[in-house]
Amino acid sequence: MSQSQQTPPDPGRQNAVAAVSNTASVSRPGEIESLPPRGGDRQQSNLPDSDWSGLPDEHVDADGPAPIAKKSLRSDLRVLWHLIAHPVRGNSHQERLESFYRGQADDYDSFRSRLLHGRGPLIERLQFPVGGVWADLGAGTGENILRAKQHVGSLNEVILVDLAESLLDVAQRQLADAKIDNASFQLADVTTWDRPDNSVDLVTFSYSLTMVPDWFAAIELAHRILKPGGMIAVTDFYVSRKYASSKHRQHSWATRWFWPAWFAGDNVYLSSDHCAMLHRKFEVQCFCERLGKVPYLPLLRAPYYLFVGKKST
Ligand SMILES: C[S@@+](CC[C@H](N)C(=O)[O-])C[C@H]1O[C@@H](n2cnc3c(N)ncnc32)[C@H](O)[C@@H]1O
Repeated sequence: MSQSQQTPPDPGRQNAVAAVSNTASVSRPGEIESLPPRGGDRQQSNLPDSDWSGLPDEHVDADGPAPIAKKSLRSDLRVLWHLIAHPVRGNSHQERLESFYRGQADDYDSFRSRLLHGRGPLIERLQFPVGGVWADLGAGTGENILRAKQHVGSLNEVILVDLAESLLDVAQRQLADAKIDNASFQLADVTTWDRPDNSVDLVTFSYSLTMVPDWFAAIELAHRILKPGGMIAVTDFYVSRKYASSKHRQHSWATRWFWPAWFAGDNVYLSSDHCAMLHRKFEVQCFCERLGKVPYLPLLRAPYYLFVGKKST
């Protein structure tokens, strides 16, 4: 795959983007601050969900709008082998990503549809600006774009940026099969992607920030390339701070210890700081903290969040 398979045109659109289509579920800034008091993990699933109303605690993506690949045991075993036993090798981040994903790229979607629960609710609630540009950073196999298929045609362009060539190859195949013809694919690092300032209407990161070592730079880049008024939407695993703000959920010691250790084996680094920086950098439109099932760990629930923010005008 070439570094840039299609040169993205500049749509020249400066109109602000509203990111959350279900206005009933949009939180006003004050409401975001009104998240329930800390209660520990046990109470977490009982807490009201004022900013993403209607979203169940364990959002099972199989109910979502996207075509989900059929679960097959053999495919799962291949993925599990890569997640648990396959050594990740390489001298650079890109080589390590490719080493991790190459052997599981074709099985990625089936397994991840039962793990990455934030993608469905995030995409369902986005509004796509007519004639605008959407950059999906750390796009993987293009699942988000498939989920938004009915809206993608109204965009001028959707750009999938990822550093793992094997996943981008799958994305390219899947989007071609879905007859999405306004997508371009960029084999690039989301911390250094060469994209003009103020040129994008919507940026998404789904489960990619936790895999980017210099995630500060990725958020800075998103802020730089967004037009004033443009929207950022993020979902990912995380853990709370030891002493979370009273506005946010408090995770127990066990949660704060277990999940970072569990995911670190696959070079996925959970942090309490992603949310903090997103809140600092953007005007918060929605923020929600939830728990989701993990395949083959029936008793456990991994914490994840959904964030939608706006770049100040
Ligand atoms: C867990 S996957 C999520 C993929 C996709 N967003 C999804 O929701 O299925 C994380 C993705 O981030 C990509 N990634 C990690 N670090 C990156 C970087 N520095 N630049 C670009 N992509 C990166 C990985 O290659 C991988 O595709």
